[in-house]
Amino acid sequence: MTAATISAWSVSRYGAPERLVPVTRPMPEPGPTEVLIRVRASAVTRADGMMRAGRPLFARPFLGFRRPRHDLSGTGLSGEVIAVGQNVRRFAVGDAVFGEAGMNFGANATHICLDEAGTLMKKPDGLSYEEAAVMCDGPLTSYHFLHAVARLQPGERLLVLAGAGSLGSAAIQIAAAAGAEVTASCSTRNVATVGALGAGRVIDYTRRDPLDGPETYDVIFDTIGVASFAKARARLAEGGRYLCPVLTLGLLGSVLRSRVGDGPRALFSAAGLQPPEILRGHLDRLLDMAAAGALTPVLDRVYPLSDLVEAHRHVESGHKRGNVVVV
Ligand SMILES: NC(=O)c1ccc[n+]([C@@H]2O[C@H](COP(=O)([O-])OP(=O)(O)OC[C@H]3O[C@@H](n4cnc5c(N)ncnc54)[C@H](OP(=O)(O)O)[C@@H]3O)[C@@H](O)[C@H]2O)c1
Repeated sequence: MTAATISAWSVSRYGAPERLVPVTRPMPEPGPTEVLIRVRASAVTRADGMMRAGRPLFARPFLGFRRPRHDLSGTGLSGEVIAVGQNVRRFAVGDAVFGEAGMNFGANATHICLDEAGTLMKKPDGLSYEEAAVMCDGPLTSYHFLHAVARLQPGERLLVLAGAGSLGSAAIQIAAAAGAEVTASCSTRNVATVGALGAGRVIDYTRRDPLDGPETYDVIFDTIGVASFAKARARLAEGGRYLCPVLTLGLLGSVLRSRVGDGPRALFSAAGLQPPEILRGHLDRLLDMAAAGALTPVLDRVYPLSDLVEAHRHVESGHKRGNVVVV
């Protein structure tokens, strides 16, 4: 009898998408508090690309200095529970679930074991496996930034830079549902999509710089780090907050300097490093929004798992619309 195996993708050395190699591994067995999931869909994100490339270099202490500490790729996923450890309480065989493998990686695979105490949720019927697989990228990160970091209030004016990306497309919907006045930037081809997500005003960045106008905002969410705090602060009202999820030394300096005094603040956070119980609380709110029709994750391309290299190439174009998944 042959032992059961799973298909996955490995990156043994940092580099371009072609470094990804398909591998087979023994079927994992769930530990006492783990569930074994048959993966139906998994996300391919900008962060996955950065981990594959080992960039930025200052992330290497977490990822591994010379080569990835964990060689399998992929973080966000959805699927069905097919086995549970003896102490598992929150899940049962047959549950549809979605979640995040975090720094253990391995979501771009046919099967994965995850601890029930991690960022793992039951998938409602109203959310497809593809949509659920990306919930922990744009939706969860944008929820964390807008509600936990910026404490966005109803009626506040928000500018979302890169409104057509994974974080941007979720941020527009989350902020509109929270009663904010949303303006977003994107290129010409995405103007209609971004408007339909709930942006009251859309600025085509190919025609004018969204930070050059006379408008001021309470919050500017620079979802891809396309601007800088130095440039954005002129457009921030009193008590204004500049949020950026892309950590650079420049942003770190702005975060530290803006802590002094009463002026606008620059803010960074790593959503994935928050305690899982906090993230599960955020996901509960996002599922409420999805059930109420206020949030639909935007899907761009869906590839077969065997085309992961192609999916990474598309994500790396910097122009995906919303999210990319492999199934
Ligand atoms: N800190 C955290 O916790 C955290 C968590 C998750 C992700 N991240 C990071 O967040 C970043 C954003 O990820 P993402 O997945 O949202 O990015 P993304 O989806 O890859 O962004 C692509 C989008 O950017 C738009 N874009 C490109 N250039 C633009 C410009 N000059 N102005 C406005 N829009 C522009 C494109 O729209 P057009 O085609 O219309 O140009 C495209 O839709 C990544 O760097 C990721 O690593 C951080």
